[in-house]
Amino acid sequence: MTGSINNEKEVVMNTRITTRKWDDFHAHLRQEELLRIAVPHTAAYFERALVMPNIKPPVCDMLVAKRYRNEILDVAHRSGYPDFEPLMTIKIVDGMNSGTVSLAHAFGMVAGKAYPVGATTNSEEGVSDFRHPRLRRVFEEMEAGGMVLSVHGEMPLAPSLEREARFLCELEWLATQFPKLKIVMEHITTRKAVEAVCSLPSTVAATITVHHLFLTLDDVIGGKLNPHHFCKPIAKTLDDRAAVQEAAISGNPKFFFGSDSAPHRRENKECGAGEAGIFTSPVAPSLLAEFFESRESLHRLESFVSRFGAEFYGLPLNKGTITLIKEPWEVPRIYSSFIVPFKAGETLQWKVVERS
Ligand code: NCD
Ligand code: ZN
Repeated sequence: MTGSINNEKEVVMNTRITTRKWDDFHAHLRQEELLRIAVPHTAAYFERALVMPNIKPPVCDMLVAKRYRNEILDVAHRSGYPDFEPLMTIKIVDGMNSGTVSLAHAFGMVAGKAYPVGATTNSEEGVSDFRHPRLRRVFEEMEAGGMVLSVHGEMPLAPSLEREARFLCELEWLATQFPKLKIVMEHITTRKAVEAVCSLPSTVAATITVHHLFLTLDDVIGGKLNPHHFCKPIAKTLDDRAAVQEAAISGNPKFFFGSDSAPHRRENKECGAGEAGIFTSPVAPSLLAEFFESRESLHRLESFVSRFGAEFYGLPLNKGTITLIKEPWEVPRIYSSFIVPFKAGETLQWKVVERS
Protein backbone atom coordinates (compact mmCIF):
# COMPACT_ATOMS: atom_id res chain seq x y z
CA MET A 1 0.00 0.00 0.00
CA THR A 2 1.30 3.40 -0.86
CA GLY A 3 0.18 6.96 -0.28
CA SER A 4 0.95 10.40 1.00
CA ILE A 5 1.88 10.59 4.65
CA ASN A 6 -0.30 13.65 4.99
CA ASN A 7 -3.34 11.43 4.85
CA GLU A 8 -3.65 9.89 8.29
CA LYS A 9 -5.85 7.00 7.12
CA GLU A 10 -3.27 5.87 4.60
CA VAL A 11 -0.44 5.90 7.08
CA VAL A 12 -1.27 2.70 8.91
CA MET A 13 0.21 0.25 6.40
CA ASN A 14 2.36 2.59 4.41
CA THR A 15 5.36 1.14 2.68
CA ARG A 16 6.13 4.27 0.67
CA ILE A 17 6.15 7.84 1.87
CA THR A 18 6.63 11.06 -0.03
CA THR A 19 7.16 14.46 1.58
CA ARG A 20 8.43 17.89 0.68
CA LYS A 21 12.27 17.94 0.61
CA TRP A 22 13.99 18.12 3.98
CA ASP A 23 16.16 20.53 5.94
CA ASP A 24 18.81 19.72 8.52
CA PHE A 25 19.03 22.63 10.94
CA HIS A 26 22.30 21.53 12.57
CA ALA A 27 25.13 19.89 10.63
CA HIS A 28 28.90 19.67 11.05
CA LEU A 29 30.31 19.56 7.53
CA ARG A 30 33.94 19.71 8.69
CA GLN A 31 36.98 20.53 6.55
CA GLU A 32 39.28 18.97 3.98
CA GLU A 33 39.04 15.17 3.81
CA LEU A 34 36.12 15.00 6.28
CA LEU A 35 34.30 17.75 4.37
CA ARG A 36 34.54 15.73 1.17
CA ILE A 37 32.79 12.85 2.95
CA ALA A 38 30.31 14.80 5.08
CA VAL A 39 28.91 17.12 2.38
CA PRO A 40 27.64 14.44 -0.05
CA HIS A 41 26.05 12.48 2.79
CA THR A 42 24.11 15.52 3.94
CA ALA A 43 23.34 16.83 0.44
CA ALA A 44 22.03 13.42 -0.63
CA TYR A 45 19.04 13.76 1.67
CA PHE A 46 18.78 17.39 2.73
CA GLU A 47 18.05 20.32 0.47
CA ARG A 48 19.51 22.75 3.00
CA ALA A 49 21.67 22.40 6.07
CA LEU A 50 22.55 24.86 8.79
CA VAL A 51 26.33 24.66 8.81
CA MET A 52 28.01 24.79 12.20
CA PRO A 53 30.97 27.16 12.48
CA ASN A 54 33.21 25.12 14.82
CA ILE A 55 35.97 24.57 12.30
CA LYS A 56 39.57 25.74 12.53
CA PRO A 57 39.94 28.68 12.34
CA PRO A 58 36.32 29.20 13.43
CA VAL A 59 33.82 30.95 11.18
CA CYS A 60 34.10 34.30 12.95
CA ASP A 61 34.48 36.64 9.98
CA MET A 62 33.34 37.05 6.41
CA LEU A 63 36.59 35.92 4.87
CA VAL A 64 36.45 32.51 6.52
CA ALA A 65 32.70 32.25 5.95
CA LYS A 66 32.92 32.95 2.22
CA ARG A 67 35.81 30.58 1.74
CA TYR A 68 34.07 27.84 3.74
CA ARG A 69 30.79 28.27 1.85
CA ASN A 70 32.60 28.02 -1.49
CA GLU A 71 34.38 24.85 -0.39
CA ILE A 72 31.06 23.28 0.61
CA LEU A 73 29.37 24.31 -2.64
CA ASP A 74 32.30 23.02 -4.66
CA VAL A 75 32.09 19.57 -3.07
CA ALA A 76 28.30 19.52 -3.37
CA HIS A 77 28.47 20.38 -7.08
CA ARG A 78 31.19 17.86 -7.77
CA SER A 79 29.23 15.15 -5.95
CA GLY A 80 26.13 15.74 -8.06
CA TYR A 81 24.12 17.93 -5.70
CA PRO A 82 24.11 21.35 -7.41
CA ASP A 83 20.94 22.45 -5.60
CA PHE A 84 22.28 21.90 -2.09
CA GLU A 85 22.15 25.12 -0.07
CA PRO A 86 24.45 25.57 2.92
CA LEU A 87 22.88 27.96 5.43
CA MET A 88 25.89 29.59 7.01
CA THR A 89 26.36 30.52 10.67
CA ILE A 90 28.85 32.79 12.36
CA LYS A 91 30.42 31.84 15.66
CA ILE A 92 29.62 34.22 18.52
CA VAL A 93 32.69 34.71 20.71
CA ASP A 94 33.70 36.85 23.68
CA GLY A 95 34.62 40.36 22.68
CA MET A 96 32.97 40.13 19.30
CA ASN A 97 32.08 43.35 17.57
CA SER A 98 28.38 43.84 16.81
CA GLY A 99 29.38 45.14 13.37
CA THR A 100 30.64 41.66 12.49
CA VAL A 101 27.18 40.26 13.06
CA SER A 102 25.56 42.93 10.86
CA LEU A 103 28.04 42.13 8.10
CA ALA A 104 27.36 38.44 8.49
CA HIS A 105 23.66 39.06 8.16
CA ALA A 106 24.15 41.24 5.11
CA PHE A 107 26.21 38.43 3.59
CA GLY A 108 23.20 36.10 4.03
CA MET A 109 24.26 34.20 7.13
CA VAL A 110 21.09 33.15 8.89
CA ALA A 111 22.31 32.48 12.42
CA GLY A 112 24.94 33.17 15.03
CA LYS A 113 26.06 30.08 16.93
CA ALA A 114 27.11 30.43 20.53
CA TYR A 115 29.06 27.70 22.32
CA PRO A 116 29.87 28.16 25.99
CA VAL A 117 33.67 28.05 26.20
CA GLY A 118 34.84 24.44 26.54
CA ALA A 119 31.41 22.89 26.01
CA THR A 120 32.27 20.67 23.05
CA THR A 121 34.48 20.06 19.98
CA ASN A 122 36.51 23.15 19.02
CA SER A 123 34.91 25.47 21.55
CA GLU A 124 38.10 26.85 23.07
CA GLU A 125 36.87 30.19 21.82
CA GLY A 126 33.20 30.82 22.52
CA VAL A 127 31.05 32.60 25.08
CA SER A 128 32.23 32.58 28.71
CA ASP A 129 29.30 34.63 29.99
CA PHE A 130 26.07 35.14 28.05
CA ARG A 131 25.23 38.09 30.32
CA HIS A 132 28.43 40.01 29.67
CA PRO A 133 27.56 43.64 28.71
CA ARG A 134 29.77 43.45 25.63
CA LEU A 135 27.56 40.77 24.09
CA ARG A 136 24.40 42.82 24.58
CA ARG A 137 25.09 44.85 21.41
CA VAL A 138 25.67 41.64 19.46
CA PHE A 139 22.35 40.12 20.57
CA GLU A 140 20.53 43.43 19.97
CA GLU A 141 21.94 43.59 16.47
CA MET A 142 20.78 40.04 15.77
CA GLU A 143 17.37 40.79 17.25
CA ALA A 144 16.97 43.90 15.09
CA GLY A 145 18.07 42.10 11.93
CA GLY A 146 16.02 38.94 12.51
CA MET A 147 19.12 36.76 12.74
CA VAL A 148 18.65 33.58 14.77
CA LEU A 149 20.74 32.87 17.88
CA SER A 150 21.56 29.18 17.92
CA VAL A 151 22.91 27.99 21.27
CA HIS A 152 24.75 24.92 22.46
CA GLY A 153 22.81 24.85 25.71
CA GLU A 154 25.16 23.32 28.24
CA MET A 155 27.05 24.78 31.19
CA PRO A 156 30.43 23.08 30.77
CA LEU A 157 31.50 23.33 34.42
CA ALA A 158 28.38 21.62 35.77
CA PRO A 159 28.32 17.82 36.25
CA SER A 160 27.84 16.29 32.82
CA LEU A 161 24.28 15.05 33.34
CA GLU A 162 23.24 18.45 34.71
CA ARG A 163 24.84 20.65 32.07
CA GLU A 164 21.80 21.12 29.90
CA ALA A 165 19.36 21.76 32.76
CA ARG A 166 21.76 24.30 34.27
CA PHE A 167 21.77 26.25 31.01
CA LEU A 168 18.02 26.80 31.08
CA CYS A 169 18.22 29.90 33.28
CA GLU A 170 20.55 31.44 30.66
CA LEU A 171 17.99 30.58 28.00
CA GLU A 172 15.22 32.22 30.01
CA TRP A 173 17.40 35.25 30.65
CA LEU A 174 18.14 35.64 26.92
CA ALA A 175 14.47 35.24 25.98
CA THR A 176 13.44 37.86 28.54
CA GLN A 177 16.18 40.38 27.81
CA PHE A 178 15.81 40.13 24.04
CA PRO A 179 12.10 39.48 23.51
CA LYS A 180 12.24 39.60 19.71
CA LEU A 181 15.43 37.57 19.35
CA LYS A 182 14.78 34.16 17.79
CA ILE A 183 16.65 31.56 19.83
CA VAL A 184 17.17 27.87 19.09
CA MET A 185 18.27 25.62 21.93
CA GLU A 186 20.17 23.00 19.95
CA HIS A 187 19.98 19.20 20.32
CA ILE A 188 17.83 19.04 23.46
CA THR A 189 18.11 15.89 25.56
CA THR A 190 16.11 16.43 28.76
CA ARG A 191 12.53 16.69 29.94
CA LYS A 192 13.45 19.94 31.65
CA ALA A 193 14.63 21.45 28.35
CA VAL A 194 11.46 20.33 26.56
CA GLU A 195 9.36 21.93 29.29
CA ALA A 196 11.39 25.15 29.29
CA VAL A 197 11.15 25.53 25.52
CA CYS A 198 7.38 24.90 25.66
CA SER A 199 6.89 27.46 28.42
CA LEU A 200 8.92 30.24 26.78
CA PRO A 201 7.46 32.51 24.07
CA SER A 202 7.26 31.52 20.41
CA THR A 203 10.66 33.18 19.81
CA VAL A 204 12.27 30.15 21.47
CA ALA A 205 12.51 26.81 19.67
CA ALA A 206 14.67 23.68 19.82
CA THR A 207 16.24 21.16 17.50
CA ILE A 208 16.07 17.43 18.10
CA THR A 209 18.61 14.96 16.70
CA VAL A 210 17.86 11.48 15.49
CA HIS A 211 20.33 9.82 17.87
CA HIS A 212 18.66 11.37 20.91
CA LEU A 213 15.40 9.75 19.81
CA PHE A 214 17.13 6.37 20.05
CA LEU A 215 19.77 6.53 22.79
CA THR A 216 19.93 6.74 26.55
CA LEU A 217 23.04 6.95 28.72
CA ASP A 218 23.03 3.15 29.01
CA ASP A 219 23.70 2.89 25.28
CA VAL A 220 26.91 4.83 25.87
CA ILE A 221 28.24 3.39 29.13
CA GLY A 222 25.74 0.75 30.30
CA GLY A 223 27.58 -2.22 28.82
CA LYS A 224 30.94 -1.98 27.17
CA LEU A 225 31.85 1.61 26.47
CA ASN A 226 30.51 2.67 23.05
CA PRO A 227 32.41 5.70 21.79
CA HIS A 228 30.20 5.85 18.68
CA HIS A 229 27.27 6.75 20.93
CA PHE A 230 29.21 9.49 22.69
CA CYS A 231 28.16 13.03 21.90
CA LYS A 232 27.49 16.38 23.57
CA PRO A 233 25.01 16.70 25.11
CA ILE A 234 25.29 13.11 26.25
CA ALA A 235 22.14 10.96 26.01
CA LYS A 236 20.22 10.96 29.31
CA THR A 237 17.54 8.84 31.01
CA LEU A 238 14.59 6.91 29.64
CA ASP A 239 12.28 9.58 31.01
CA ASP A 240 14.26 12.34 29.31
CA ARG A 241 14.26 10.46 26.03
CA ALA A 242 10.50 9.92 26.31
CA ALA A 243 10.01 13.68 26.67
CA VAL A 244 12.20 14.41 23.65
CA GLN A 245 10.38 11.75 21.62
CA GLU A 246 7.01 13.21 22.57
CA ALA A 247 8.19 16.68 21.55
CA ALA A 248 9.33 15.39 18.14
CA ILE A 249 5.96 13.84 17.30
CA SER A 250 3.87 16.48 19.07
CA GLY A 251 3.26 18.67 16.03
CA ASN A 252 4.42 21.64 18.11
CA PRO A 253 6.28 23.95 15.67
CA LYS A 254 8.84 24.80 18.35
CA PHE A 255 10.51 21.41 17.75
CA PHE A 256 12.22 20.59 14.48
CA PHE A 257 15.01 18.46 13.08
CA GLY A 258 18.71 19.21 13.40
CA SER A 259 20.87 16.11 13.00
CA ASP A 260 24.02 17.33 14.74
CA SER A 261 25.72 14.81 12.47
CA ALA A 262 29.32 15.17 13.61
CA PRO A 263 31.83 12.83 11.94
CA HIS A 264 35.18 12.16 13.58
CA ARG A 265 37.98 9.86 12.49
CA ARG A 266 37.68 6.41 14.01
CA GLU A 267 41.04 6.71 15.77
CA ASN A 268 39.86 9.92 17.45
CA LYS A 269 36.71 8.20 18.74
CA GLU A 270 38.17 4.84 19.77
CA CYS A 271 40.93 6.09 22.03
CA GLY A 272 41.73 7.34 25.51
CA ALA A 273 40.33 10.83 24.96
CA GLY A 274 37.55 10.15 22.49
CA GLU A 275 35.89 13.03 20.67
CA ALA A 276 32.18 13.78 21.13
CA GLY A 277 30.01 13.54 18.03
CA ILE A 278 28.01 10.92 16.11
CA PHE A 279 27.95 10.59 12.31
CA THR A 280 24.24 10.23 11.58
CA SER A 281 23.58 11.80 8.19
CA PRO A 282 23.68 8.49 6.22
CA VAL A 283 21.04 6.93 8.49
CA ALA A 284 18.96 9.91 9.59
CA PRO A 285 16.12 9.59 7.03
CA SER A 286 15.67 5.85 7.65
CA LEU A 287 15.73 6.24 11.40
CA LEU A 288 13.34 9.19 11.40
CA ALA A 289 10.86 7.22 9.30
CA GLU A 290 11.28 4.19 11.57
CA PHE A 291 10.78 6.23 14.71
CA PHE A 292 7.74 8.20 13.47
CA GLU A 293 6.22 4.97 12.14
CA SER A 294 6.75 3.21 15.48
CA ARG A 295 4.78 6.01 17.13
CA GLU A 296 2.07 5.95 14.46
CA SER A 297 3.05 9.50 13.62
CA LEU A 298 4.30 9.33 10.04
CA HIS A 299 1.82 12.07 9.21
CA ARG A 300 3.86 14.39 11.48
CA LEU A 301 7.25 13.63 9.91
CA GLU A 302 7.02 16.17 7.11
CA SER A 303 6.42 19.14 9.41
CA PHE A 304 9.30 18.07 11.65
CA VAL A 305 11.83 17.85 8.80
CA SER A 306 10.65 20.29 6.22
CA ARG A 307 8.29 22.88 7.63
CA PHE A 308 8.74 23.97 11.25
CA GLY A 309 12.44 24.78 10.98
CA ALA A 310 12.07 26.72 7.75
CA GLU A 311 9.15 28.69 9.18
CA PHE A 312 11.04 29.51 12.37
CA TYR A 313 14.05 30.72 10.36
CA GLY A 314 11.75 32.66 7.99
CA LEU A 315 12.90 30.68 4.95
CA PRO A 316 10.73 29.55 2.04
CA LEU A 317 9.68 25.92 2.16
CA ASN A 318 11.62 23.59 -0.10
CA LYS A 319 10.15 22.71 -3.45
CA GLY A 320 10.16 19.17 -4.77
CA THR A 321 9.79 15.89 -2.96
CA ILE A 322 11.70 13.06 -1.33
CA THR A 323 10.40 9.49 -1.30
CA LEU A 324 11.27 6.66 1.06
CA ILE A 325 10.20 3.03 0.74
CA LYS A 326 10.09 0.35 3.35
CA GLU A 327 12.87 -1.98 2.26
CA PRO A 328 15.68 -3.36 4.42
CA TRP A 329 19.23 -2.14 3.85
CA GLU A 330 22.41 -2.68 5.76
CA VAL A 331 24.30 0.31 7.09
CA PRO A 332 27.99 0.10 6.09
CA ARG A 333 30.32 -0.66 9.00
CA ILE A 334 32.59 2.16 7.98
CA TYR A 335 32.77 4.96 5.41
CA SER A 336 36.00 5.72 3.51
CA SER A 337 37.86 3.37 5.90
CA PHE A 338 37.82 5.79 8.82
CA ILE A 339 34.34 7.03 9.79
CA VAL A 340 32.01 4.77 11.72
CA PRO A 341 28.37 5.80 11.24
CA PHE A 342 25.55 5.56 13.75
CA LYS A 343 23.93 2.08 13.54
CA ALA A 344 26.98 0.70 11.70
CA GLY A 345 26.36 -2.79 10.35
CA GLU A 346 22.70 -2.80 11.41
CA THR A 347 19.74 -3.42 9.13
CA LEU A 348 17.34 -0.49 8.82
CA GLN A 349 13.82 -0.66 7.45
CA TRP A 350 13.39 2.47 5.36
CA LYS A 351 15.45 3.85 2.52
CA VAL A 352 15.37 6.98 0.39
CA VAL A 353 14.65 6.08 -3.21
CA GLU A 354 13.92 9.33 -4.98
CA ARG A 355 14.30 13.10 -4.87
CA SER A 356 12.69 15.25 -7.50
C1 NCD B 1 29.96 18.29 17.82
C2 NCD B 1 31.25 18.24 17.01
O1 NCD B 1 31.94 17.22 17.05
O2 NCD B 1 31.53 19.20 16.29
N1 NCD B 1 29.96 17.22 18.77
C3 NCD B 1 28.89 16.68 19.40
O3 NCD B 1 29.10 15.83 20.27
N2 NCD B 1 27.66 17.02 19.11
C4 NCD B 1 29.82 19.65 18.47
C5 NCD B 1 28.50 19.87 19.15
O4 NCD B 1 27.50 20.15 18.51
O5 NCD B 1 28.47 19.75 20.37
ZN1 ZN C 1 26.61 20.17 16.87
